Amino acid sequence: MNMTSKKKIALLPGDGIGPEVSAQAVKVFDAISDRFDTYFEYCHGDVGAVAIERQGAPLPEETLDACRCADAVFFGAIGDPKYDNNPKAKVRPEQGLLKLRQELGLYANIRPVKTYERLLHLSPLKANRLQGTDFVIFRELTGGIYFGDKATAQDGQSAYDTCSYKASEIERIAKLAFEEALRRRRKLTLVDKANVMETSRLWRSVVQDLAPAYPEVALDFMYVDVAAMQLIQHPKQFDVMLTSNMFGDILSDEASVLTGSMGLLPSASIGISASMFEPIHGSYPQAAGQDIANPMAAILSAAMLVEHLGLQEAATAVRASVQHVLEKGIGTPELDPAIAYGCSQIGDLIAHLVAEPEEEVLVREEKISQRLSTII
Ligand code: IPM
Ligand code: MG
Repeated sequence: MNMTSKKKIALLPGDGIGPEVSAQAVKVFDAISDRFDTYFEYCHGDVGAVAIERQGAPLPEETLDACRCADAVFFGAIGDPKYDNNPKAKVRPEQGLLKLRQELGLYANIRPVKTYERLLHLSPLKANRLQGTDFVIFRELTGGIYFGDKATAQDGQSAYDTCSYKASEIERIAKLAFEEALRRRRKLTLVDKANVMETSRLWRSVVQDLAPAYPEVALDFMYVDVAAMQLIQHPKQFDVMLTSNMFGDILSDEASVLTGSMGLLPSASIGISASMFEPIHGSYPQAAGQDIANPMAAILSAAMLVEHLGLQEAATAVRASVQHVLEKGIGTPELDPAIAYGCSQIGDLIAHLVAEPEEEVLVREEKISQRLSTII
């Protein structure tokens, strides 16, 4: 009897380094197919600047259809400098991402932040503040000021963006955050601006109402300006951080600096009709096509994707392989300019480690390092 399960992944490589790092994630998905009883099938879609060029829209209908019929979506990156400095541009690559979030109902953006011992020296912060930092941000992704009413007056002299939230929008992400806290160190921090904003007071009351259902979780509240400070002063204090769309956007970029490289941070966007997984770094256009981008964030996003599909063992194997490579001091130029491994070499190596059972990895370690040492 054939027990192999089939899963369909929609691949949206997007702009800049998106296609290069996505290709490494695909190597890892294929390695998972080799080792575990799962078969991945892919469908491809254009998104972002590349979609504007090829199809005239940042999120063509056929890309959306591909996402809707997939078990999960893998997203590379979006953005092109061509559009960045033109506030008058009517069509922008980012609209593709925002529409995708809205259409697929991707309401919870999950960004784990973890420091790696070997990379502490790359962070602008002192190592003793960072050691042991391990938290996860739950950012609301389809509401708030991003999607509220907005307009510029006809005379161009005023403009507004509205921030509004429904209790139901807060409740569904808050539940996910409480559940994650139960699986982790059981601490949940709601970050808001409840001393000023009505929407923040609604967040507090919804989260407070949910708290009795999770008595094991220690809940606390922090204003966003304080959180911006605390993130760099005492990052270790956080376990699960829950916040609204805009605050989460800002704090997650701040948090990404802690690890020393944006190239290591994955994310998941959990949705109603699909879930999407993407590295948090952007399209990094200066590096596009040079094979120097770090594919680890994309590969760790692939781990989140397979975990979401219930393939826990595969996810653990992927994370262990990335950890192994980092511990060996192997990385792309931004981690250590003295040893410059290519994006695709790192992808090959991690995929290889995923495909091989643990014992063989140990036996082959020397062979791997010999192979890599010839690259230096
Ligand atoms: C992110 C990005 C997006 C956002 C941009 C590209 C629209 O910064 O995913 O954090 O602001 O949400
Ligand atoms: Mg952002």
